[in-house]
Amino acid sequence: MHFLAKSAALAMVILGCASVSVVAADDPIKTRQDLMGGIGKAMKVLVPMAQGKTAYDAAKATDALNAVATNIADFPNHFPAGSDQGKTDAMPAIWEKMDDFKAHATSLETDAKAALAATASLDTFKPAFMKMAGNCKSCHEAYRKPS
Ligand code: HEC
Repeated sequence: MHFLAKSAALAMVILGCASVSVVAADDPIKTRQDLMGGIGKAMKVLVPMAQGKTAYDAAKATDALNAVATNIADFPNHFPAGSDQGKTDAMPAIWEKMDDFKAHATSLETDAKAALAATASLDTFKPAFMKMAGNCKSCHEAYRKPS
């Protein structure tokens, strides 16, 4: 019994080390910045449509909104302890208030899905998109270093 407990503990230590090195290898900072970069790219399609500067295209809006929803769903998974250090604009408040930070991500995802259900016309898309876009500022103000 004692031996089993000990080897289980040892296995956990070994697994623990392995997962740490996997995290280091796949670079959570780059991963989350790439996810945000994808969201930024989607906004370059959505904003001009909402402003009437480019023709409204429901299929393009759908693709872009899907990218926002998919990327923000994964985004909060890439903030392991210690990844506040390095080339990142993530503020330490994220790790102090992780639940609130995740709630901001969920809010954007919810609003992106609501906008996805409203792509029928520019008139339905625009207010849903404006509501969605408000999430960028509110999360950045609280959790992203001003550049
Ligand atoms: C849940 C909080 C949150 C929400 C919501 C959010 N962001 Fe971010 N964003 C961040 C954080 C944190 C960073 C900094 C990441 C880092 O440097 O590690 C960031 C970085 C970025 C970057 C820079 C990426 C890079 O290459 O360094 C862009 C562009 C961006 N966000 C766009 C947006 C847009 C557009 C929206 C709204 C559609 C949005 N974000 C919504 C938290 C958020």
